[in-house]
Amino acid sequence: MAEKNSVHIPVLFEAVVLGLEPKPGMVIVDGTLGGGGHSRALAERIVPGGTLIALDRDPAAIDAGERFLRGLPVRLAQANFCDLPEVLKAVGAAYTATAGRGFAERVDGVLLDLGLSSDQLADASRGFSFSSDGPLDLRFDPTAGVPAWRLLERLSAEHLADLIFEFGEERFSRRIAKAIVERRRGNPVRTSRDLAELIGRCVPKTRDSERIHPATRTFQALRIAVNDELKSLEIALRRIPDCLNPGGRFAIISFHSLEDRRVKEAFQNDARLKVLTRRPIRADESEISQNPRSRSAKLRIAERMK
Ligand SMILES: C[S@@+](CC[C@H](N)C(=O)[O-])C[C@H]1O[C@@H](n2cnc3c(N)ncnc32)[C@H](O)[C@@H]1O
Repeated sequence: MAEKNSVHIPVLFEAVVLGLEPKPGMVIVDGTLGGGGHSRALAERIVPGGTLIALDRDPAAIDAGERFLRGLPVRLAQANFCDLPEVLKAVGAAYTATAGRGFAERVDGVLLDLGLSSDQLADASRGFSFSSDGPLDLRFDPTAGVPAWRLLERLSAEHLADLIFEFGEERFSRRIAKAIVERRRGNPVRTSRDLAELIGRCVPKTRDSERIHPATRTFQALRIAVNDELKSLEIALRRIPDCLNPGGRFAIISFHSLEDRRVKEAFQNDARLKVLTRRPIRADESEISQNPRSRSAKLRIAERMK
């Protein structure tokens, strides 16, 4: 078996595999490869004859996936899942050039497991962890866009506060934004530890602070902003149903209400889709005790109508 360097434990593993119903010959897309746990399980179930197309914005995930998924019928691409129609065209063209026959631009299943992976969290140079002394970067693709520390340097206190409130649902957003802007003069916030400590001083301690670090909501907000995550999700919700064959499944795991609300409403209001999960599928106590990340995971699945 190929080496697994990832520390990421895939959430709702059984439910994803049952929900997407992978079978030999199918073409399935994992739009969020991460550590490759879901991808591997799906790829193993579509042989012979199937293809798994795995995407991630993070070049490090694609590099690791190349090793971890070696020997399986997998095509990897560093891409945003909202660009899936373009990726399918490119994969189709490459396939036709090598195999001499066509490759359908529609697929039998798509998985999106949103947010960040434990591998990204564990890499101090990416800045996702509160205790990291690395630069507060927070980009899924460190080669594109603007790191979070630059936003802290550039945005007005008002803009920062709105962003932290909207994407982090943080009650103390104004206080945090003011403190960040005050620091600009002498000692600007550059590292994740810096920001986590500053927030610790702005936010009053509650019973919850033991369980949830007070910086969680602000980091979530900055990560969403830096990666434009909600826009990618909204575009994907509009475009991906047209990439599915009739009967093809669309499964999305979300980790907070801003994402889940969008998924729920888009699935419900999309005439191309039939919702298969009236309520989202959640992790049970045993999964939560082994993998605390799974506590907030919600899986919704819809099927492309004929
Ligand atoms: C929760 S992890 C996926 C874990 C994966 N299912 C596994 O089993 O290891 C989410 C991954 O999606 C990637 N990602 C987030 N938003 C993305 C987007 N819009 N397009 C492509 N990849 C994205 C992140 O870089 C991260 O590697």
